[in-house]
Amino acid sequence: MNRRSFLAAATTTAAVSLAPARVLGANNRLRLGIIGAGSRGQEDMRAALALPDVEFVAVADVYSRHRDEAHALAPGAQLYDDPRKLLDRHDIDGVIVASPLFLHSRHFLDTIASGKDLYCEKTMTWSIPEAITCRQAAAASKQVIQIGLQHESEGTHADAQQWVRQGLPGKITMVEAWMSRNSPHGQGQWLRPIPADCDPQHVGWDLFLNDRPQEAFNGHRFINWRLFWEFSGGNVTENMVHQIAWIITVLGLKEPLAATMAGGVFSEKDGRQVPDTIAVTLEFPDLTVLWQSTFSNSRYGLGERFLGSDGTIEHISGSTNMVTGKSESSLNFYPEKINSPNGALRSGSAKGVDHMQNWFDCMRSRKQQTNAPVETGYLSAVAAHMANLAYRQQRRITWEEAKSIQPGY
Ligand SMILES: NC(=O)c1ccc[n+]([C@@H]2O[C@H](COP(=O)([O-])OP(=O)(O)OC[C@H]3O[C@@H](n4cnc5c(N)ncnc54)[C@H](O)[C@@H]3O)[C@@H](O)[C@H]2O)c1
Repeated sequence: MNRRSFLAAATTTAAVSLAPARVLGANNRLRLGIIGAGSRGQEDMRAALALPDVEFVAVADVYSRHRDEAHALAPGAQLYDDPRKLLDRHDIDGVIVASPLFLHSRHFLDTIASGKDLYCEKTMTWSIPEAITCRQAAAASKQVIQIGLQHESEGTHADAQQWVRQGLPGKITMVEAWMSRNSPHGQGQWLRPIPADCDPQHVGWDLFLNDRPQEAFNGHRFINWRLFWEFSGGNVTENMVHQIAWIITVLGLKEPLAATMAGGVFSEKDGRQVPDTIAVTLEFPDLTVLWQSTFSNSRYGLGERFLGSDGTIEHISGSTNMVTGKSESSLNFYPEKINSPNGALRSGSAKGVDHMQNWFDCMRSRKQQTNAPVETGYLSAVAAHMANLAYRQQRRITWEEAKSIQPGY
């Protein structure tokens, strides 16, 4: 090989190994795409567009109504029905995935295989085997990946983590966590109306079903995918995942040793499969984590209590103050006088960072350790899916058993 052909080959190799990631322009302006521009996807678009030096150049959604709504937010974006057309482009830096849960792993893997950075909404995947596959693929890639677990970027998280690292609460053997909501009588939590144009002319139904068994078009299943196991993981993947990610990263936990989950469809009797009333137990070494949830009482909002021998860390959000009736949020530390006689009450004061901005900062600096990296997405997905497996099999399930179970529909 002469020098000229060697240089040409080297240039080609370099181009291939870099391709198709775009080299950021001098002004560091990020060019984004989004897969799944529904309710959350449009919130993510607004959050991104509120930050400097970003633009959406592409939107992929199987529903024309949502493509049009996204276009109103980003008039310069090219619209696609099929995400593969978006991923084939070589001029996109990062992709937000906000499709229904059962499609996350498909869109996660395709996005990083196309050389683009990724912001993947929680829960990272629909099952444990998918979480393992995505984690392996991410470890082998150079992409900057943020999972949409935005509470990982909050100041309360930084404070709680620091208090635990300082040993302030002593030995924590139990964490209590809860999440409660209510809705008017006769109006089911999560139930969305079906728009008049939600029909096979406006929805790419086969693209939506992806690898699921063929079935006739069903607008209710398309819009209300959250209610069905085939597409969703119910409230543990919608809400517990945020709190269990918080608990896992504050305490530095790994996969649970075992899980149980009781409950059922007690209040929202509208044909849904996923339970509205839930009590989860997650076993970790020397630690039990409890999470309970209801959709028919909102008084206590959402929160976590870390019960330690030397004190309690309490994080609450959206609970109703008994005196004022107003919604309250706080992070506090309450010492246990018995083991911490001089301990003082503390309140969280750290400032959080914008979760989307954190992804953008990491994309620009090529730092792979985002605030909610794939490892946090993986561990929180594993815990959520272990709980669901225990519920669906009506038994205690261990991590050793759970790691290879792909749930049925
Ligand atoms: N981080 C958070 O706090 C938060 C909050 C709400 C929702 N979420 C997550 O966001 C995700 C989306 O939830 P949502 O309420 O926006 O759902 P949604 O149904 O409103 O939106 C999903 C969108 O994906 C589109 N879609 C379906 N199949 C597609 C495909 N194959 N290719 C491209 N687009 C496709 C749908 O047309 C729809 O526009 C869920 O995983 C949910 O858990 C996260």
